[in-house]
Amino acid sequence: MTPVNAKPKIYIPRPNFPEVIGRLESHFEVVHNQADQALTAEQFRLLASQADGLLTTGSDVINESLLKACPQLKICANMAVGYNNFDLLSMTRAGVLATNTPDVLTQTTADFGFALLMACARRLVESEHFLRDQQWKQWRYDLMAGQDVHGSTLGIIGMGRIGQAVAKRASMGFDMKVIYHNRSVLPADVEKACGASWVELDALLAQSDHVMLVLPYSPECHHMIGARQLSLMKPGAHLINIARGGLIDEEALVDALERGHLGGFALDVFEGEPQINPRLLTQKRVVLTPHIASSTIQTRLKMSNLAADNLIEFFSRRQALTPLNPEVLEK
Ligand code: DGY
Repeated sequence: MTPVNAKPKIYIPRPNFPEVIGRLESHFEVVHNQADQALTAEQFRLLASQADGLLTTGSDVINESLLKACPQLKICANMAVGYNNFDLLSMTRAGVLATNTPDVLTQTTADFGFALLMACARRLVESEHFLRDQQWKQWRYDLMAGQDVHGSTLGIIGMGRIGQAVAKRASMGFDMKVIYHNRSVLPADVEKACGASWVELDALLAQSDHVMLVLPYSPECHHMIGARQLSLMKPGAHLINIARGGLIDEEALVDALERGHLGGFALDVFEGEPQINPRLLTQKRVVLTPHIASSTIQTRLKMSNLAADNLIEFFSRRQALTPLNPEVLEK
C-alpha cells in the first residue's frame, strides 16, 4: 500500500536514457537497473510487486501470474509499439493500464525495413564477409550478383503505419509495384498515397519478388509463414521480417533456403530472441540483426519520453497519451 502523499513508485527493469530517468525522478520514486544486472523471473516479480508503475520493454512479460503478484500495480508503459509481451485482457481485468509508443518510430522502422530489403537482395553482408575474408581475387561478371530492388514487386503483409511508410519508400523512391495484405482494405485515398493495392495472402506470396512482414503478432498468426506459404513464394524471392519472430516457422524458412527455393531472407526479430536458432547462423544468403529496427538515438529517445509521459499523465491526471486499454481509465 502506498502511504498517502508518498510519491508513486516506478520500476524500470532495463537500462534507459539517463535524462528520461531524471525526468521520472522529479515525479516519482524510481527504482532502475542502469547496471543492467540480469534478473531472474523471481527477482523481476519481487521488484515489480513493489511498484505502482512499470516502464517496460518488449522483453518484460506482463501476464496473469505476474499481475497476481503485483496488487499495487496500476500502469505498464511499454517502450515499444508492439505489445505482445502484455496479456491485455488480464491487465484490463486487473485494472492495470497498458500503453505503447506508436507513431514516433514509424519512419525509423520503415527505413530499417528498407535497409534489410536492400542488404538482402544485393547480398551486402555476404559480400562484405567475402571481402574481409580476403576471398576477392578478381572481378567476375556474376560476382555476388543479387536481384534488383527498383522496378520489382514488393509484397507487404500488415499495412499499418509502418507498412504504409515502407510502401511509400518503395513506390515513390524505387518505382516498385507494391501489393499488400491486411485484415482490412485501406481507404482508396490511403492506397493511392502509398501506391499500393490489396491482394489475398496467397496471391501476394506468389507475385512478390520481396515479401516484408510488418504486422503485429498475435497467437492467431503464429507461424503464418510456414512451409506451405514459403512454397508459394517465387523462386529466388526474399523474405524480410521486422515484425515479430513468432510469425515465421524458422525451420521451414531455413529448409526453403537450403532447397534453393528462396533467394535469401533478412530477420530483425526471432522466435526465441535473444536466443537464435543455430540453423539460421550457418546460412550465407541471410542478414540477421538484433531487433534494432527502431534503434536510432533520436527515435529511441522519443519512445522513452513517450513511455515516461504516459506514466506522468496517468499519475497526475489519470490520463494517458497512448493507452491500449482506455476502458481502465473510465473505471
Ligand atoms: C517495437 O516497438 O515494437 C519494436 O519492435 C521495438 O521493441
